[in-house]
Formats: sequence, structure tokens, C-alpha cells
Amino acid sequence: MKHLLKLESLPRADMEEILQSAPAIKAGRGRPGPQPLAGQIWAMIFSKASTRTRVSFEVGVRELGGQPIFLNANDIQLGRGEPIKDTARVLGRMTHGAIIRTFAQKDVEDFALFSGRPTINALTDDEHPCQILADLMTFEEKRGPIAGKKVVFIGDASCNVPISWMFAAGKLGFQLWLAAPKDFQPSADLIARARGDIHCTEDPLEAVAGADLLYTDVWVSMGKEAEAAERIRRLAGYQINESLVRRAHPNALVMHCLPAYRGKEIDEPTFEAHAETIFDEAENRLHVQKAILDWIVRA
Ligand code: CP
Ligand code: NVA
Repeated sequence: MKHLLKLESLPRADMEEILQSAPAIKAGRGRPGPQPLAGQIWAMIFSKASTRTRVSFEVGVRELGGQPIFLNANDIQLGRGEPIKDTARVLGRMTHGAIIRTFAQKDVEDFALFSGRPTINALTDDEHPCQILADLMTFEEKRGPIAGKKVVFIGDASCNVPISWMFAAGKLGFQLWLAAPKDFQPSADLIARARGDIHCTEDPLEAVAGADLLYTDVWVSMGKEAEAAERIRRLAGYQINESLVRRAHPNALVMHCLPAYRGKEIDEPTFEAHAETIFDEAENRLHVQKAILDWIVRA
């Protein structure tokens, strides 16, 4: 049985298979096509807010012939303390797969183990694999293979999104620079595990020189709200803005996983100048996740 629990554990060949099938799924949208989820019910258990992930999975499951059931974790007994392994054993008997957004990575992994059903990580504190697969699809549809390119992440480089980028770098062979204050950089252990061409710096100007892609994410991830003021103060120098973009490759893309906080991790003119790319990236969540669902149910 296949799962998508984190990019760290997704074999490179599977990552490539998903990325190869996504463009055809995108091109074929709206025409009658295969329905690999026909007759299936998929549970979507979300403990955190979501716009893109929720809508793209609800639409994607339906377009592949299945039916999603959206479960806000606070509306089910899980939110009152029922163990994840019990929730998993119940849902595993009633549904065909699960898409989970939560805090602890272990909860997604336990769900996969105890449900006996294909399970997809729709964001945890550790990783956001579906996002990075959509980002890779977006880069490659605009610029061709990402292998050998220079990707620069600026901002909170210790959160889920840059960590998934690190594991993608190790598998797909691009250079990844992370610009962040020391204590917003990933641990040495994570960098070693990613086994990629990964560089950390506190200097965004050093990082962006010649970049093919500039990327950022919120400074205050979900669950970190109590640290908001401190994070905004500490990360103030790590904004994607026009003076930084000028130092990248002239053809560089600017991407953001969204939601975007203007004046924080990106300024308004830079965001709007690159909005076409950023919203293509958001749209590609749908197409790449259909590719993930198609891959996961195939033996
Ligand atoms: N980028 C992303 O995952 O967006 P949502 O939080 O809206 O799902
Ligand atoms: N790092 C962000 C990603 C949001 C899509 C968070 O975890 O809130």
C-alpha cells in the first residue's frame, strides 16, 4: 500500500512519476477521463485552517470519481481526545483513504498504520509534500527540468515548506539556498538527512545571486501564533522585495505557497509582479494532487 507521508520517505522514482503525469492530467481536465477513485470515499481530517489544500483535494477527489468527506478535527471525537489510532481504525473500516492536515507528523504516520488505507499528508509541522510537488510542477512547466537550477528560500527556513524543499533538492538534484537567521535555519541533522546540495546563510543577498527561483512562506506558521511578534521582529530582513529580485537571474521566478502577508515575507509590488506565477502554483495544487491520488490507488 502506498502513502504520501513526507517527501523524505517518497522514493525519487515515485516523485518523478507523479511529476510526469501531472501535466497531462492538467491538460485533460474537463474532458472525460479515467476515474481511478470511482466508488471510493476519502476522509479529509483537518486540524488547521486551509483554503487551497481543502478545495483542491475536495475538487480533485470528485473529479477522479470519488467522494470526499470533510472532517474538521474539532467536530469529531478526535478533537475531544479520542486517540488517532482509534479514529484511524474506525475510518479505515468505512472509507478508502485519508488526507490529513495536522500538527504532529506522527499522527499522520499512525493514521496510515492503523487505518490500513492510503494516507496523504496535507501539511504537518514537519513537511508539506503536496505543496512542494505543486511547486516543482510549476517551475518545470515554466522553465523545464529543475535539476541543476538554483532555488532560494528566504524567511522561516525551519518550517514545513522549506524542509520539504530540502528533501526535494536531495532527490531531484537542484541547489537549494536557505536564507534565515541562525535559529530559523533547519537543524544540521535534517540537512544531513536531506543529502542534497543545500546551503544555509544569514545573508539573503549572498543567497539570491544568480537564483532561478525565489521562494518564501509565512513568517508565522499555523500553531506559532504566540510567537508572532518575536518572529516578525527577527525575520524583518528576510523579505522578498524588488531589490532582492534584481540580484537574481533576470529570468528568475518568484513563488509563494500562500497565504501571503504583504509587507512581511514579501512586499506588495513584488507579489503583484509575480501573481501570475503564484496563482498558477496555487492552481497546480489541484492537478498535482490528482496525480498523487491516481498514483496512490494504483497497485
Ligand atoms: N498553501 C497551502 O497549503 O494553502 P492552504 O493553507 O490554504 O491550504
Ligand atoms: N508554513 C505554513 C504553510 C502554510 C501553507 C504553515 O504551516 O502555516
